[in-house]
Amino acid sequence: MEDSEKNREDFIHLARVALSDRQQDVYAFLNRLAKRTEDRDFANSLVELLRKRPTRSSTLRRSPTVALPVDTDSRFQLLRAEEHPTLPHEPIYADGVRDMLKRLVDERKQLEALTEAGLEPTRTVLFTGPPGVGKTMAARWVARELDRPLLILDLSAVMSSYLGRTGTNLRHVLDYAKSIDCVLLVDELDAIAKRRDDAAEIGELKRLVTVLLQQLDDWPSSGLLLAATNHEELLDPAVWRRFEEQVAFGLPEREAARAFVNSLLEFVEPNASEWSDVLSLALAGQSFSDIERKVNSARRSAALNGRKISDHLATLLSANDCPKNERIDLAVQLAKSGLVSQRRAHELTGVARETIRDRLRSKGFLAKDLE
Ligand SMILES: Nc1ncnc2c1ncn2[C@@H]1O[C@H](COP(=O)(O)OP(=O)(O)OP(=O)(O)O)[C@@H](O)[C@H]1O
Ligand SMILES: [Mg+2]
Repeated sequence: MEDSEKNREDFIHLARVALSDRQQDVYAFLNRLAKRTEDRDFANSLVELLRKRPTRSSTLRRSPTVALPVDTDSRFQLLRAEEHPTLPHEPIYADGVRDMLKRLVDERKQLEALTEAGLEPTRTVLFTGPPGVGKTMAARWVARELDRPLLILDLSAVMSSYLGRTGTNLRHVLDYAKSIDCVLLVDELDAIAKRRDDAAEIGELKRLVTVLLQQLDDWPSSGLLLAATNHEELLDPAVWRRFEEQVAFGLPEREAARAFVNSLLEFVEPNASEWSDVLSLALAGQSFSDIERKVNSARRSAALNGRKISDHLATLLSANDCPKNERIDLAVQLAKSGLVSQRRAHELTGVARETIRDRLRSKGFLAKDLE
C-alpha cells in the first residue's frame, strides 16, 4: 500500500476514535503507531507525548464519591474499589513470584529507564495457582506499593446474576478502569474464559470472550490489568496468550510454611519458633489460608477454654495424615524440640516410642532428659 494512502487511513481512524470520545483508544492507537513506524524521531515524539499525557488518574482519589459502574437495571455495583489497599500481614512468596511482583512495581517506578530504552511497562499479567496462596493479596500488594487504588472485578459474581447483560457491563467496567490510573484485578477469570469450543458455552459467553480479548489487546500502558484464576486448565489458549506475563503461585514449601506460622504465633506464643519448626513439617503443602485458619482456630479454642495455645497447636499434628516416613520425622522433631514429652509425641503422631528413641539416638540427640 502507498504510504500516503496508509497515512490517510491512519488519520481517518484516529479522527474516528477521537471524535467518538474514546480517549483510551486514541492512546492505544498512538502507541501502536509509535511501535510500527520506522521514523525514529516521529516515534520518539509520540512516545514522549503519551508519557506526558495529562492523566485523569486521580478521579478516584480526588473524589471518593466518584460513581463506580453499576448494572443499569439492578444498580448492582460491578466493581469494588479499595482506595488505599492494606494487607492483614506481609505476604510470603517463593523467590520467582516475589521477583516478578517486585519487577512490576519497579517498572512503574522507573518508567524513565524503560521509556529511554523504547520500552513500555508490562500492562497485563495473569496470576494462576490453587486457592488461598496469595493471588488476590499480590494484587493488593502491587497496588499498595504503587500507591494506586485497586479496583476488583469479580467475574463470577457479575456473571452469575447478569449473564444477559454481562457483555455491556464488562465493557463498561473495563472502560471505566482504563480511564483512571489504577490497578485492576479481574478475579475468577475462568468464569468467563472458558474454552470457546465448549458447546454449552455459546452465544453470550463467546461475545464476552471477544470483549475481553479486545480489551486485553488495547489495554493502555498507563494501567495495570491483573487477572487471577485457580482453574487455568479452563482458560482458552487465546486468552492465555494475550497476557504479557504469567505468574504461577504455588503451595508453600516447608520454609515458607515455617515463616508463615512463625509470623502468626510470634507475639502470642512464647515458643513460637519451636512450634513453627514442628508445625511446618505437618502443614507444608497446605495453602496459606488453610494454615492460617488452623492456627487461628487453635488460638480461639485456647482463648475460650483458658488452656495454653500450645495444647491446641499440638492437636494440629495429630489430625495430620502424612505418609509414615514424614510422620516419623515429625515425631522426632517434636520430641527433639522439647515442646512435649516423648510419650505425647508418640500419642500425637502414632509413631512408636522405640522408633522415636532410636532416631534421636542415631542423630546424637538422646540426652537423658528426653528419655
Ligand atoms: N503468600 C501468602 N503469604 C501470606 N499470607 C497468605 C499468602 N497467601 C494467602 N495468605 C493468607 O490467605 C488469605 C487468602 O489469600 P488470597 O485471597 O490472596 O488467596 P487467593 O490465592 O487469591 O485465593 P483464591 O483463589 O481462593 O481467590 C490472605 O488474606 C492471607 O491471610
Ligand atoms: Mg483470590
